[in-house]
Amino acid sequence: MGDWPAGFLWGAATSAHQTEGDNRNSDWWSFEQAGLHFVPEASGAAVDSYRRWEQDMDLLAGAGFSDYRFSIEWARIEPRRGELSATALEHYGAMVRGALARGLRPLVTLHHFTHPLWFHEAGGWLAADAVAAFCRYVEAVLPLLDGVERVCTINEPNILAILPALLAGGDTHGLPAPDVATGTVLIDAHHAVRELLRERAPHLRVGWSVACQSFEPEPGAEDVCARLAHDREGRYLEAARGDAWIGVQSYTRTRVGVDGPLPPPEGARLTLTGWEYAPRALGAAVRTAARLTGVPVLVTENGLATDDDALRRAYTAEALAALRDAMAHGVDVQGYFHWSLLDNYEWGRFAPTFGLVAVDRTTFERHPKPSLSWLGALGPQPPH
Ligand code: BGC
Repeated sequence: MGDWPAGFLWGAATSAHQTEGDNRNSDWWSFEQAGLHFVPEASGAAVDSYRRWEQDMDLLAGAGFSDYRFSIEWARIEPRRGELSATALEHYGAMVRGALARGLRPLVTLHHFTHPLWFHEAGGWLAADAVAAFCRYVEAVLPLLDGVERVCTINEPNILAILPALLAGGDTHGLPAPDVATGTVLIDAHHAVRELLRERAPHLRVGWSVACQSFEPEPGAEDVCARLAHDREGRYLEAARGDAWIGVQSYTRTRVGVDGPLPPPEGARLTLTGWEYAPRALGAAVRTAARLTGVPVLVTENGLATDDDALRRAYTAEALAALRDAMAHGVDVQGYFHWSLLDNYEWGRFAPTFGLVAVDRTTFERHPKPSLSWLGALGPQPPH
């Protein structure tokens, strides 16, 4: 497995809200406190990474990884509109420097699902000045990005755009379709930040990460499936044309019948999130992303919610085999990030564990699983 192309990124990913804890000024924190139907459990202290990030990075670097994808939390940087937190700015600056000092190239996500509460209360992405507000936040964090090569503007815009439906009472099973108006603004925001960074930080290679759900039509449902795949995924991939890279996030496949998405087939093996176990979907996902964008691919998330670490290794080995196969057929893949470094807060629940490292939720002690060193050793070997 070791012979990856030169410069191939080999890492794991996390996000701020899912790991840091006490993200009190964010919209998600308020959803959790209000006990909304899609958040049965609150994040609380999460896995305490706001304080333990150095230990997390030590584990990743110590296992042989060379890259770390983590996010900066807008709600901490700008807890109230127009008020920047010097402490939070210093915190994320220290994380960037800390990663570099450990030989980890940071891939920094600027937005991973959460918003400052004030932004949400002002109308979220549908407010007239939403894109401008996001750009002002990005300008504020620019000085922190010294030594960073790659930035992800927005994580999974096609999932983020489901939020209005969830807030309106929609079900999380068989995910609702993204809200078209929200999706349009997110695309505008991505392009605005891309322009801003081209001007102000031309050394940064800018992209975004799309949830690639590998839609597969049942016989007779080809047209329905093509339309659905475009609305839920394709338009967000097409918006990445001209980017430096496209981030692919693949976990499962989704079958589509004439009436829309179907549940996993009878008897299929399910993961702890209830998704079909489908490691080879990664191969299909990178092919689709490369075809629709024409830019190099980074796998910015891929992983399995399971409490069986041997199964995690089996899943990942098969996903990587499918990735190698796509690369052998000409898909330009430049990196792989596993989701996730840590068991963490899976948007409403702690039970679906995706981590290479387990965390004791009382003491916050980290317990690396065998998959951490196993996967670390599969990456590009450092020159001797
Ligand atoms: C998100 C992560 C999430 C993971 C597993 C992606 O949708 O970016 O935040 O934890 O998938 O559900």
